[in-house]
Amino acid sequence: MKSVADILRSKPDQTVYNIAPGDSVYDALRLMADKNIGALLVVEEGKIVGMLTERDYARKVILRDGSSKLITVREVMTSSVMYVRPDQTNEECMALMTDNRLRHLPVIDNDKLLGLVSIGDLVKDIISEQQFIIEQLQHYIQGQRG
Ligand SMILES: NC(=O)c1ccc[n+]([C@@H]2O[C@H](COP(=O)([O-])OP(=O)(O)OC[C@H]3O[C@@H](n4cnc5c(N)ncnc54)[C@H](O)[C@@H]3O)[C@@H](O)[C@H]2O)c1
Repeated sequence: MKSVADILRSKPDQTVYNIAPGDSVYDALRLMADKNIGALLVVEEGKIVGMLTERDYARKVILRDGSSKLITVREVMTSSVMYVRPDQTNEECMALMTDNRLRHLPVIDNDKLLGLVSIGDLVKDIISEQQFIIEQLQHYIQGQRG
């Protein structure tokens, strides 16, 4: 099972996209659309103060008939941000996401932000690991026949 550090390395872009709490939700949505991502870390004076996801927008803005241009990120972000360390496993991240209904986890080591993993990153890693095992078994079976 790969570590979070391995999974981060396989991401083509290592940047962690973030936004300030005083910015509008509209600006956050624009950034998410530009980068084709579903979550932003909320950072103030270099510190992580929250996470804003498409789910926050759907439930706390749209369903309350709010305007994304008038509402700030701070008003709808999730303040308690769960994170993982780079030495943790894919399985541990999956368990954390499932238990807490999360889709994104920042990766932090000694107070340093190293990256962010999403549920898609974890699933992609599991599929490629399973593909590798299937190929090994196919080679083994072909070897036994030949
Ligand atoms: N082919 C791939 O490499 C790949 C990787 C991840 C997800 N996906 C697919 O994309 C779709 C949506 O993915 P998702 O639900 O995991 O969420 P998502 O759309 O938020 O994440 C997509 C990618 O963007 C990255 N990302 C998201 N927010 C980020 C941020 N603030 N800073 C830096 N990187 C950030 C994630 O780590 C992930 O690699 C799914 O269909 C999934 O299967 C594909």
